[in-house]
Amino acid sequence: MPFSALETPVPLVDLGRLARNLDRAAGYAREHGLALRPHVKTHKSPFVAAEQLQRGASGLTCATPFEAEVMSSVCDDVLVAYPPVGAPRARRIAALPPGINVTVALDSVRALDDLHAAAKMADRPIGVLVELDLGMHRVGVADVADAVELARAVRARPPLQWKGIAFYPGHIRQSVATQDDAIGQLNDALGLALAVFRTAGFDPAIVSGGSTPTLWRTHELRGVTEFRPGTYVYNDRTTAAIGACAVQDCALTVLATVVSTAVPGQAVVDAGSKALGRELMRGADGLGFGALLEHPSVVVRSMSEEHGILDLNATDWRPEVGDMVRIIPNHVCIVTHLHDLVYGVRDYAVETSWQVAARGRGYDPITQTGRSS
Ligand SMILES: Cc1ncc(COP(=O)(O)O)c(C=O)c1O
Repeated sequence: MPFSALETPVPLVDLGRLARNLDRAAGYAREHGLALRPHVKTHKSPFVAAEQLQRGASGLTCATPFEAEVMSSVCDDVLVAYPPVGAPRARRIAALPPGINVTVALDSVRALDDLHAAAKMADRPIGVLVELDLGMHRVGVADVADAVELARAVRARPPLQWKGIAFYPGHIRQSVATQDDAIGQLNDALGLALAVFRTAGFDPAIVSGGSTPTLWRTHELRGVTEFRPGTYVYNDRTTAAIGACAVQDCALTVLATVVSTAVPGQAVVDAGSKALGRELMRGADGLGFGALLEHPSVVVRSMSEEHGILDLNATDWRPEVGDMVRIIPNHVCIVTHLHDLVYGVRDYAVETSWQVAARGRGYDPITQTGRSS
């Protein structure tokens, strides 16, 4: 099927690039003896998850209960790397199918109590990783002694089982070549944390970290046993700017149609903020909200909900109304989340499609419909 058969805007995934991205990360994990536990937030798709598992992923990482439920159809080992606060969330996690090995990362006694109550009610063991703040300052216990106390509190709450520690180096977003200092500081913090835990009699079986910007340096991180990159499956403009992939590794583009060229110096496409998201490039104004795959100097300068304004000032290319373009988004995870379906393409042919099956919450407590049991 040609692209012209699709109603735009729609996300396309280049199947060759996707396979290359998956193979490369799987090969890196194998080479360094690391468990690869990809974060599914980027694709939210059992189809892509199955490809990751087939290539040796040890399990999957999820943020939401719905992601964990959907992924349970293809995977029997799931980490929920998000604080399980509140009974609805904790109960859904504990209600995952019995054959699934479930682990949860958390950073507070409140989250621990909510998970403990749910695990007792469901009468199932759930692994727990104590989340540490090693520089991102988002979630994670800041003081290592407090983190050890939280691990002790886990041990006092069967059927929960303390498995280790987790951290997310999301603060390291500088280019790969200039990450040395940040990696060094992270290693110092990690080394200290591991020493304090071990001295207190808590030897972590799992040290879970990793991100896409630091993906290829994971083996340098002290004591890390598993890593959780998400964005690497599709990559995006930001990842390429950081140098964690080449522009040619960006697998997902948004196919859009030129709907107006009425104003000189610009062309309007049907992909606005509801198709592309409104993410800046690494926080910087002026770099647009996406760039064209086939005309990299052309960026989406501004957007309304259904309109994207292409800036034609840096190019001689002049599109006509009805032309199709492919836009590499700044932040691909947001784009996936905005669409129901993704089309798999090779060259200029649409080969397949798959659902973004884990979008949204997936459960309505009023009508009690959805996947949650
Ligand atoms: C806890 C956690 N782990 C892993 C990831 C994956 O990181 P990346 O998007 O850099 O691949 C994220 C991303 O948001 C995350 O929040």
